[in-house]
Amino acid sequence: MLNFDFHNPTRIVFGKGSVERLDSLIPKEARVLVLFGGQSAEKTGTLAEVRKALGSRTWKEFGGIEPNPAFETLMRAVELVRAEGLDFLLAVGGGSVIDGTKFVASAAAFEGDPWAILESFGGAVTRALPLGTVVTLAATGSEMNCTAVVTRKSTQTKAFFANPLIYPRFSILDPTKTYSLPARQLANGVVDAFTHVVEQYLTFPVDGRVQDRFAEGLLQTLVEIGPRVVQEPADYDTRANLMWAATMGLNGLIAVGVPQDWATHIIGHELTALHGLDHAQTLAIVLPAMLEHRREAKREKLLQYAERVWGITEGVADQRIDRAIEATRSFFESLGVKTRLSDYGIGADAIGAMIDKLAEKGMVKLGEKGDVTPEVSRQVLARCL
Ligand code: NZQ
Ligand code: ZN
Repeated sequence: MLNFDFHNPTRIVFGKGSVERLDSLIPKEARVLVLFGGQSAEKTGTLAEVRKALGSRTWKEFGGIEPNPAFETLMRAVELVRAEGLDFLLAVGGGSVIDGTKFVASAAAFEGDPWAILESFGGAVTRALPLGTVVTLAATGSEMNCTAVVTRKSTQTKAFFANPLIYPRFSILDPTKTYSLPARQLANGVVDAFTHVVEQYLTFPVDGRVQDRFAEGLLQTLVEIGPRVVQEPADYDTRANLMWAATMGLNGLIAVGVPQDWATHIIGHELTALHGLDHAQTLAIVLPAMLEHRREAKREKLLQYAERVWGITEGVADQRIDRAIEATRSFFESLGVKTRLSDYGIGADAIGAMIDKLAEKGMVKLGEKGDVTPEVSRQVLARCL
């Protein structure tokens, strides 16, 4: 096992009716900015609950944060924070609103051009406003981690940053808040959470037994509940398990002491930036191709994954690996998330621009061993057609 240092300061407040806990979680004297997305938080009544819980505090609202939050939009929120002297941010939404809020928290306290926050991968952040979240979509794990992904629309650049200063102080996870999600977002959530776990688990063995079994437990849970989440009417326990699996999938716990990959995510970001696909759609396309292309580098873990997650024990090793990769693809397809570029009308002619963008951003040594060069990424994308 590799050396590690683990500290996650986010308080999780989990369960039905927990939005009212906001009153005790946000300082009484705080001057709050409530950030949200399009219409969903208003329509579902979540914003009304938030306003009630804020009580007599001073607060302002900033709506309109779009999926894959735009730098340009978020800079308007930064101006509002500065103009009104606000000092606490509350995100009400999914990963995009939470990530956007993390950026606003960093940018409002930043001197100079805030795009430098993304260019430095977060290293340039030295201060950030405190933030909390009310989660309405289970997927990204952003509610309990210190990463955010922001898109500069003008240059079609999707970039991430991380800094311990942007861990949410608290996150409210009420599974009933996910009841209003359409099937597409529910399926996206399962695929995103599943892929997060795979990126941290399916690399090469370092005898991280605890991490491996936590990861396998999360994957098995998602395989078990995924079809129910998407195909059956909302029920509390299924949604509660989805929500907790998504949070646990990317809060740092399963990543400690083990190698991590993330090449699928980074290549996927270019598909969103250039072609507008949902984040999880990009993962459903890239992950099976990545596993297939890198099957030798990942051989031992692929065999472990086949046996422990999918129960595949029969046949020679290469057949078991084939079946595990096929099971992964079929799982995504069974949830209604297509796994080929052609399913989204994207052809071979689109690959060059994505590779150029990766190279421009310096994403030239991806994967757990840093050997996913732009040429390897090109070969992986060619397998996605
Ligand atoms: O804008 P509204 O009207 O709120 O609608 C949203 C949005 O259209 C809707 N929605 C959210 N909660 C709802 C709801 N609709 C009905 N009922 C509810 N309760 O869902 C749509 C998608 O929301 P979004 O926040 O974009 O989805 P998600 O949570 O999947 O977040 C995706 C973003 O997170 C980033 C992705 O790159 C992408 O930008 N990621 C962030 C990570 C992190 N911070 O650690 C890791 C991930 O790998 C990912 O990259
Ligand atoms: Zn993701």
